[in-house]
Amino acid sequence: MKVEVVKVLSNALEEKLSSFQIEKMLEKPKYEHLGDIAFPCFALAKQLRKSPAQIAQDLVQKISINTFEKVEVHGGYINFFYKKEKIAYEVISKVLKERELYGTKKVTGSRVLVDFSSPNIAKPFSMGHLRSTVIGQALANLAEKNGDEAVRINHLGDWGTQFGKLIVAYKLWGDQKRVQDSPIEELLKLYVKFHDEEDNDLSEQARAAFKALEDGDEEAQKLWQWFKEESLKEFASLYELLNIGFDSYAGEAFYNDKMQKVIVELQEKGLLVESDGADVVELENMPPCLIKKNDGATLYATRDLAAGFYRMQTYKPKAIYYVVGNEQSLHFKQWFKVVEKMGHSWADNLHHIPFGMMLKDGKKMSTRKGKVVLLEDVLAETISMAKENIEQKNPLLENKEEVAKAVGIGAVLFNDLKNFRLNDLEFSLEEMLNFEGETGPYVQYTYARIQSLLSKRALNVDKKFNLVIGEYEWSILTQLQAFTEIIESSYKQADPSLIAKYALKLARAFNKYYGNSKILTDDEFLSGRLALCDSVAIVLKESLRLLGIEAPKKM
Ligand code: ARG
Repeated sequence: MKVEVVKVLSNALEEKLSSFQIEKMLEKPKYEHLGDIAFPCFALAKQLRKSPAQIAQDLVQKISINTFEKVEVHGGYINFFYKKEKIAYEVISKVLKERELYGTKKVTGSRVLVDFSSPNIAKPFSMGHLRSTVIGQALANLAEKNGDEAVRINHLGDWGTQFGKLIVAYKLWGDQKRVQDSPIEELLKLYVKFHDEEDNDLSEQARAAFKALEDGDEEAQKLWQWFKEESLKEFASLYELLNIGFDSYAGEAFYNDKMQKVIVELQEKGLLVESDGADVVELENMPPCLIKKNDGATLYATRDLAAGFYRMQTYKPKAIYYVVGNEQSLHFKQWFKVVEKMGHSWADNLHHIPFGMMLKDGKKMSTRKGKVVLLEDVLAETISMAKENIEQKNPLLENKEEVAKAVGIGAVLFNDLKNFRLNDLEFSLEEMLNFEGETGPYVQYTYARIQSLLSKRALNVDKKFNLVIGEYEWSILTQLQAFTEIIESSYKQADPSLIAKYALKLARAFNKYYGNSKILTDDEFLSGRLALCDSVAIVLKESLRLLGIEAPKKM
């Protein structure tokens, strides 16, 4: 198609223009009788000192036309007609043969780590964590589709001075049963109460409690462990709902005994300097990276550094992706730079994958000060709205619960993934559940529509099928063919929104075709039409899977 056109033109022009220049000059003809793509020769007239029409005539002589149905000259244009039926046959056969493996790249033998989700123990799972979870999962899926091995790491926020506060608050006001019943809500309440007290004496106690925890005090350790276990149980049910698994839950605490080595190396390399009693690494054009506070406590960045060394050694990845909101950009810039200053070339393999905020009515969805937007509540609500929808439109559907779950979750995930991740994101339940909008349910619905068509006629894949390729069929085909390219570019750019937008385009192209053709007519082209439908369904389902979304057969 386009690639072939560029190739033959590039040969005919004997490299007077680059492939890139040629591609940019190609135009889509205004009328169908003028072919599928045209090359205008006007811009060459000056350089070649010939009329555009003459140039077109000359070039055509040098083009092997077998690749195309025909090639014609119209004035200063060369018009190419594709062998559409042949191309269509090849693409569809490939999709039907490879099925969900269509677009999958050969195994590379390389490994990447995706650090994502990473909620904080004893704190609610925020909308930011949801974004990280959804984007991180899609990125890991994309890595695998592109032949890399992906290791999914949940860098839990399970360490820090807040645990001192929590221990004190629990001992003063806590209740075991209440924490067990609803751990995160209860622990958050304790934390908020601690802050409301604004008591110096309490702050002192909290510092002491954290010190005790760091020093391995049994009671403190036990409480911390328990807070962690209870919180993890709650996170686990969320991950189960979203169908997400991790290869490692090594959180910040895991690196407690791995920081000293890094600190020593920093000292030996003369990078650690004192500043107001704290140890820092000075950086150019950025605030210094704090390694140790004046009371000797280590920091978030110290643990990320230690984790970086540990991961490089343990997993030997070609890249680590940190899927974390853009408000932490400075943090990552700083400690990546520290690794670079230490002289480790793998600093280049560390990538922060930032994303924007989730907004509701233009404002940040906050989790602070008790004004919690609980993610479970949000998901429960979308699922129940999806269920209502089913009750209205398709009350006889089997597995209503399951379908409602897939649609409700699909709506939230797709809404997140369809926009470029750095853009802030508006959270509107009605909009993301709209079956006719740019939504997950729209794509899912298109998939189910095709399943319903296919269930009415048996498709014999091995049989040769006949195709007629008109305008609508062709626009589906160009999309089907583009899939492999999209898989590659969305991974290279760490941008799952390319897949989501692609799925929308393919679904739209299909629905136009559906609205304008009689697919189930029993004629010699029936098998060809069914083969086309099946191909679309396969690629839609695979696109959704990469985004972490299920595709129910009926809805
Ligand atoms: N727990 C952190 C937070 O909630 C996110 C951790 C991200 N990963 C990392 N390696 N720093 O803000």
